[in-house]
Amino acid sequence: MLSHQQAATLSQVRAGTPIGELLRRYWMPIAAVSELEAKPVIPVRVLGEDLVLYKDSADTVGLLNRWCPHRQFDLAYGTIEECGLRCSYHGWRFDATGRCLEQPFEEAHNVKTTFKDRVATNAYPTQRSGGLVWAYLGPSPAPLLPDWAGFYVPGYTITSFVHVPCNWVQIMEGFYDPVHVEWLHDRWSYRVRGNDVPHSRPRHTSFRWIDFEYGSVFQRKLTGSDKWLADRTVVFPNIDAAGGQGWYMTWLVPVDELNTILAYRLTITSWKTPFGQIAIPPKATFCQPSIPCHRTVASLDPLRGPTADFGSHLISQDYAAWLGPGPLVDRTREHLSQSDTGVIMFRNKLFEQAEVVAAGGDPIATIRDPDKNRRITLPGARRNYGLNGEGLPGMVGEDDIMLRAFLPFDLPDSMRQAVAEAMSELVHDARPMGWKRRGRSKAQ
Ligand code: FES
Ligand SMILES: [Fe+2]
Repeated sequence: MLSHQQAATLSQVRAGTPIGELLRRYWMPIAAVSELEAKPVIPVRVLGEDLVLYKDSADTVGLLNRWCPHRQFDLAYGTIEECGLRCSYHGWRFDATGRCLEQPFEEAHNVKTTFKDRVATNAYPTQRSGGLVWAYLGPSPAPLLPDWAGFYVPGYTITSFVHVPCNWVQIMEGFYDPVHVEWLHDRWSYRVRGNDVPHSRPRHTSFRWIDFEYGSVFQRKLTGSDKWLADRTVVFPNIDAAGGQGWYMTWLVPVDELNTILAYRLTITSWKTPFGQIAIPPKATFCQPSIPCHRTVASLDPLRGPTADFGSHLISQDYAAWLGPGPLVDRTREHLSQSDTGVIMFRNKLFEQAEVVAAGGDPIATIRDPDKNRRITLPGARRNYGLNGEGLPGMVGEDDIMLRAFLPFDLPDSMRQAVAEAMSELVHDARPMGWKRRGRSKAQ
C-alpha cells in the first residue's frame, strides 16, 4: 500500500514533478503522420501541456505552445505558411523553434521595430518515424528517438489513438500483472457469455520477470506444466511491446493526470485477418502509401464512447479494469498481494528512475549511442503473441475473440476497407473462420 504522498507523486505528469520530469526524458508519439497530411494544424495535450502541432507548406513540423504569446489566441486556429504558423488574431507568425518571424502591424507602424525578436513562444522538437509524429518535452540535448525493429516488419500497418480517461499508471500496471489474464480475459469471458468455466482451464501457479536493458519480459507457469511461457515484453516506462519484435506496440502517452492516449501501432503480417483469411507476409514490392490512423475514446459509458463489448474484445475487458476504479485509483486503499509483485516492481522503478533524473542522470531506456539505435530488437514474448492467444493457450473463443483482440473494436469502415484492400493483394489462402494454427509461418 502506498502512502498518500507516494500515491500523489505516482500520478503526477507535469513539469517540475518527479514522475513528470522522468516522463519528459522520453519521446512520445502525439499524432500520426497521416493526420498531419490530412489536417496541417492539430491541437494536442500531452503531459499536462496544451500544444499545437503543425506542418507548414515546406514540410517542416513544429510543436508550439497552444496559446499565442501576444494575447493568448488559440493557435489551433492558426494557418500554415511556407515557413511556420500564423496566428489568426493579429497575424504574428512563428517558426518551429518558437521564434517570432513577423508582427505585421508592429512592422507597418515602425519599420525598425525589434519587438518580434523579444517575443518567442515555447517550442518542442519533433520527429517523424514509423508513421507517427514524436515529441520530446524534456531538456536538451534530447536522447535519440528509438529506432524499433518493428517499424521495419513487412505488412500492412495501422495506427490508432485511443483516449482513455484515467491516469496512465493504472493502465501500465495491467501490463505488469500477468495473473489478470487468467481472470479478466479467460474466465470472465466464459461468464460474460453465460457459460461455465471448464475445469480444464489453466491456472497460474507462478510468474516471474526477466529484466533486459530497456525493460522486462514476463513469463508464467500454468497448471499441469513446469515450463515457463514467455508472455509479454514491456519497455520502461510506458511501452507495451507485446510482439517482442514490435509488430505491435502501444505507447501510453499521458495527456494529464486523469487522461491518457493509448497510441497503438500494429503491423498485420502473417495473420488470420479480420476477414477470416490468412495473409502471407507481403512481397518486398509491397508498398503502403500511407499509414492510416483512427481516433476513438475508451469508455464504459455508451453515451461517451463506443459501447464496450466484454464478450468479444479483450480490450473492452481491459477498459473495465482501467476505468472501473475511476480516473485515478485510490492506491492508499489497496491490499497488494503476491500477484502484484510486477506492479510493485514497476512503481519502485518509477520512483527510483525519477531519482536518477533528479540527480541529473539519464533514466533507463533512453538511448544516446547511435550504434545502439539501429533497428532495436526486443527479447521475449512469443512472437505470435496476440495472434493465437494472449497468454493462456487455447483461450476461450480463440477463433474470434483473439482475432479481434488487438484491433480497436470501433475501427471505422474506411480503415477496415483499407486493410481488406491491402490484404487482398497479400491473401495466400482463404480459410473458414474455424481454422486452427498448424505451426508458425516462416516469416515469424
Ligand atoms: S493573439 Fe496572436 S497575434 Fe494577437
Ligand atoms: Fe489485459
